[in-house]
Amino acid sequence: MTMADSQIRDHDLHHPAGAQAGAGNDAVTVRDVDFYFGSGDSARRVLHNINLRILRGQIVIMTGPSGSGKTTMLTLIGALRSLQQGSIRCFDTELRGLSLEQQVGVRRNIGFIFQSHNLFESLTARQNVHMALELRTLPEADKHRLADRVLGELGLAERLDYRPGRLSGGQRQRVAIARAVVNTPPLILADEPTAALDKDSGREVIDLLRRLADEQRCTIIIVTHDSRIMDAADRIINLTDGRISSDLDVRRTLYICQFIKQCPVFKDMLLNDLTDVAQHMELQSFAAGSEIIRQGDAGDRFHLIYRGTATVSVRQNGASREVATLNSGDFFGELALLRDEPRNATVSAATDVETFSLSKGQFLAAVRDHKSFEEQMANTMFSRRA
Ligand SMILES: Nc1ncnc2c1ncn2[C@@H]1O[C@H](COP(=O)(O)OP(=O)(O)OP(=O)(O)O)[C@@H](O)[C@H]1O
Ligand SMILES: [Mg+2]
Repeated sequence: MTMADSQIRDHDLHHPAGAQAGAGNDAVTVRDVDFYFGSGDSARRVLHNINLRILRGQIVIMTGPSGSGKTTMLTLIGALRSLQQGSIRCFDTELRGLSLEQQVGVRRNIGFIFQSHNLFESLTARQNVHMALELRTLPEADKHRLADRVLGELGLAERLDYRPGRLSGGQRQRVAIARAVVNTPPLILADEPTAALDKDSGREVIDLLRRLADEQRCTIIIVTHDSRIMDAADRIINLTDGRISSDLDVRRTLYICQFIKQCPVFKDMLLNDLTDVAQHMELQSFAAGSEIIRQGDAGDRFHLIYRGTATVSVRQNGASREVATLNSGDFFGELALLRDEPRNATVSAATDVETFSLSKGQFLAAVRDHKSFEEQMANTMFSRRA
């Protein structure tokens, strides 16, 4: 996962690409969902208190061990299964309590990419995709063009007139994907869409999904174990034993990792550990003119500036002297935490400032887990005086 600095900075980290928080921007909202297979004594709980809010235009990757409930979750969101407890809102429709007929109506607005392709064996690739356009009031010629274009984008331009029997597993998978996305549905649910594909075709599929999210604001939920496609996600949700065990905002995490690894304390940490630290950081806002930390106070948090400018000043013999200016990507506050000493300077917000900050407890836990405390201290003292 690499991204140029500027690219990360340019994105609004509160609201990932194409998605803005607020009314009308929610695609899927899951509240307090439990799910059981079987009934009575043999009932098995496979989902535990799932809460999730997915914004329009987001690509969410759901991962987790086999049997953790990913497909079950996807089928509930897609109205392929009835909810037992809790609520799921899909755009403006509450799924709880829908009749079977109403469920079918909801499914019309969803593009499904599931493992069993269900292609029509007697129809060509083009005709299979064309089927999905039946309900659209478009001239036939436009439908053909649309079907051909999507198949072309998925590398099947040479296979338009082939029937599934003459296509490889990966090619069939791509026809199924073309069929699911040709209508640019507002929601696309995909279960292991790249499992049968080689690297290049997998990339084509992901690029297409990314374009649909960015240009059409399609919301896309992908269940996958394929680490090659993680970089396309806005969010990575991990499900373990039917529970959400982590929920990661990818751009925010990359932003944080990229800058905190310049702090000596975090310098040698592996991406995995850095990601852990990033997940514990909270966004805090400070109005222009306010103090973020004050000289003499006990240290309680480590800060990384996300937006705005702050000034560092030191008070000595009754006079205050400005010693540095900090901007996006700069961090401060680790020394007092490491030494357990009062703050040696005041950092004030010169403009409105937002920081990602880590509590002292989390900071010290991360440091101790990683390396000997003395080693950290030595590193830090050596490379930083402020
Ligand atoms: N129709 C069913 N009847 C009973 N139990 C089921 C049914 N479908 C799934 N389960 C069980 O529910 C749990 C969650 O299954 P699910 O298919 O959602 O897992 P998954 O995360 O998609 O796994 P995988 O990565 O293997 O596809 C598993 O323990 C599974 O055995
Ligand atoms: Mg599954």
